Amino acid sequence: MIPEDILRGRKADHIRIALSPDSQHPYNFWDDIRFIHNPIPEADLEEIDLEVEVLGRRLSAPVIIGCMTGGFEGGRRINEVLAEVASELGLGMCVGSQRAALEDPSLRGTFSVVADYDIPLRIANIGGPQLAMGKVGPEQARQLVDMIDGHALAVHLNYAQEVVQPEGETRARGLMSALRRLVEEADFPIIVKETGCGIDGVTAKKLSKMGVAAVDVGGAGGTSFTAIEAVRAREAGNDLKALVGESFADWGIPAPLSVYLSSRYLDTIASGGIRNGVDVARALALGAEAASMARAFLLRAVKGKEETLTFARSVVEELRAVVFLTGNSTLEDLDEDEIVVLGRTKEWFEAMDEEWW
Ligand SMILES: Cc1cc2nc3c(=O)[nH]c(=O)nc-3n(C[C@H](O)[C@H](O)[C@H](O)COP(=O)(O)O)c2cc1C
Repeated sequence: MIPEDILRGRKADHIRIALSPDSQHPYNFWDDIRFIHNPIPEADLEEIDLEVEVLGRRLSAPVIIGCMTGGFEGGRRINEVLAEVASELGLGMCVGSQRAALEDPSLRGTFSVVADYDIPLRIANIGGPQLAMGKVGPEQARQLVDMIDGHALAVHLNYAQEVVQPEGETRARGLMSALRRLVEEADFPIIVKETGCGIDGVTAKKLSKMGVAAVDVGGAGGTSFTAIEAVRAREAGNDLKALVGESFADWGIPAPLSVYLSSRYLDTIASGGIRNGVDVARALALGAEAASMARAFLLRAVKGKEETLTFARSVVEELRAVVFLTGNSTLEDLDEDEIVVLGRTKEWFEAMDEEWW
């Protein structure tokens, strides 16, 4: 259990608020994706192998612990629990934004702790605005990857959050050219990720042409950083920013639609509101290579390793069960034919002129 007192302070605000239901988008779109049950499975449950290759690394299942933390003692403790679980089960893991450690080297250990564990895919993390402002180029990017003995770097896009933050960095001009330079010079894969508002097809196509290795869609339906910033602003007595944040709390492209659109152009990691192994299976059926979960792991990580391990095991077991109960024998068999799309997500597909059936 992580003690309350080390979850206090500015850097910990996001974690504290993310644990509350107030951090969530009002609608989880994954519930609209339903599998068609097959009463006569074709393989034995134990035969179903979930091993996959993601960004050239072999994972025991297509599950990645999402980018969240580091940069303060509570973050180090959370990263340690998550790293133990990722290594024990052979899952991928991403750390939170390492910007703080670039500015203050004494914080490096809060991220580099994950390098002590044998994790098959370790992903470093930095914000797009840092690239746009020229603060992070290929050389700093290399340092970030080395800091965690990583295999890839995720560049996160969070402009909706930056709009709401009083100290937000809304400089975006120059981001595309900075990204292009990074992709050209880096000798590790670059992932571009959103943080709750999703990635559209046009952007995915541009990123693919540029040589970006994968997107992590961070679609709408789960953690909403505009909602989180609205809570922070209210707490700080900044009513103006609180109002802006509340108006944008449900902003963004539904995560399932974002997966469907992005996966036409490049390898796609699904994220945004993924809660369990059934959601992971839904994402794979829509075209994702893997799925990442942030809040779902955070809820358990603050309670300790055992809770987190049991949860991660349940995700893997549920994913295997979906393959079984849809009458399939491999992960690759999970595709559009296995699902129906209902409700608001179906309306979004139709409104975007996406033929589904
Ligand atoms: C407490 C917390 C901190 C986060 N910090 C980062 C971060 O530093 N960098 C990043 O790329 N994404 C960050 N995210 C965003 C997640 O990686 C993810 O895109 C988003 O939370 C949606 O996934 P979820 O609905 O599973 O939480 C953070 C999420 C949470 C919950």
